[in-house]
Amino acid sequence: MTIIKLEKTLKINTAYCQQKNGCKNLSWKRIKYFLLFVFLLLSLSACDFIQKPDYETIEAIPSLWKEYKEHFPIGVAVNATTINTHSDLIEKHFLSITAENEMKPQTILPGYYTSDYLDRLNFTQGDRMIKYARENDKIVRGHVLVWHEQTPEWFFKDEKGEELSPEALLERMEEYIKAVVGRYKGQIYAWDVVNEVISDDSDEETYRTNSRWNQIFKGREIDYIEAAFRAAKEADPEAKLFYNDYGAVSPKKRAKIISMLEELIARGVPIDGMGIQGHWAFDGWPSKKDIEDSIIDYSNLGLDVQITELDIRKHTGEMFKDVTLSKADKKKQAEKYKEVFEIFIKHRDKISGVTFWGVTDDNSWIPQEPLIFDRNKNPKHAFWAILEALGE
Ligand code: XIL
Repeated sequence: MTIIKLEKTLKINTAYCQQKNGCKNLSWKRIKYFLLFVFLLLSLSACDFIQKPDYETIEAIPSLWKEYKEHFPIGVAVNATTINTHSDLIEKHFLSITAENEMKPQTILPGYYTSDYLDRLNFTQGDRMIKYARENDKIVRGHVLVWHEQTPEWFFKDEKGEELSPEALLERMEEYIKAVVGRYKGQIYAWDVVNEVISDDSDEETYRTNSRWNQIFKGREIDYIEAAFRAAKEADPEAKLFYNDYGAVSPKKRAKIISMLEELIARGVPIDGMGIQGHWAFDGWPSKKDIEDSIIDYSNLGLDVQITELDIRKHTGEMFKDVTLSKADKKKQAEKYKEVFEIFIKHRDKISGVTFWGVTDDNSWIPQEPLIFDRNKNPKHAFWAILEALGE
């Protein structure tokens, strides 16, 4: 039956061809189309991961935090948007979350002073982060209590708009810390208590001068830092308390940070860890040696070390210059990620967490594609390099 049908079809086709006088042409055309089709199919299957649809990618790739679970928790900074738009990646690849801005003084404190400001603290966004963590079995790093940035100016002034005395500021700081840490007691496993008080590598002084905190406590900066840690400890004795800073691996700044940490430790201040932010670049800075020496140096103080805000951009300087990475750049970036994770793994006994500062390149605060997932949520070479660093 089939053969007969086939013969019939062929006959019809032949008749059609003869009629049109184009049999040869038609079959050649068909061959050409067929070859084109095969070529397209082959080139699509040869394309790398980046071209695959998102849902397939997310399903198929290994979970980063699970691959690293023997070493240290892998975390990520999230925000009110990304917990909705990027929850697929957050849920799958990260065990720990840090609120990018939602627990900062600027978010929690009201916009202006009133004597009952403590009753007007806004925890809506912070609570949302905690709820998200609870629902998705994540642990939470708290960020941040005392910082010269993202803190409203009124916080440093009295009701008449005059600068607070160190004593009055200390009192205000302590009541604020107790309110915030107290609210999240038992739900935040580590807090960045004090952030970025030390001046940069190139500066002569120890404490940065463009901080309202340091200006008001000039000459006795260590006092408010000490009080901040003590207040946090009182509010949640179980939480791990961190000092956090950028540029913390550069030798000069590191030495200044270490001398401050030594002073705190000598005073018996309850500090548990050093947060190395890790806003690094793949054009050379920081060196392997600086990263490794820093982990060792901070750990030698008896502190836990965490990498708290990791992202690896292109340029060391010009941090906020817009950059689209070339193929070669992406390779260099991946190599740098691999190198730093090899160091982290080597020192896993000293490191209690590594957190990326954002999920995908398009929601990074630095416009240089510094993260491990691209704007289409696909894993970059950097992602695979970090898995390669495991050496399995
Ligand atoms: C950044 C956030 O990512 C941005 O969204 C915000 O506009 C500014 O702050 N060091 C820190 C983080 O401790 O809180 C900063 O986060 C990045 C530098």
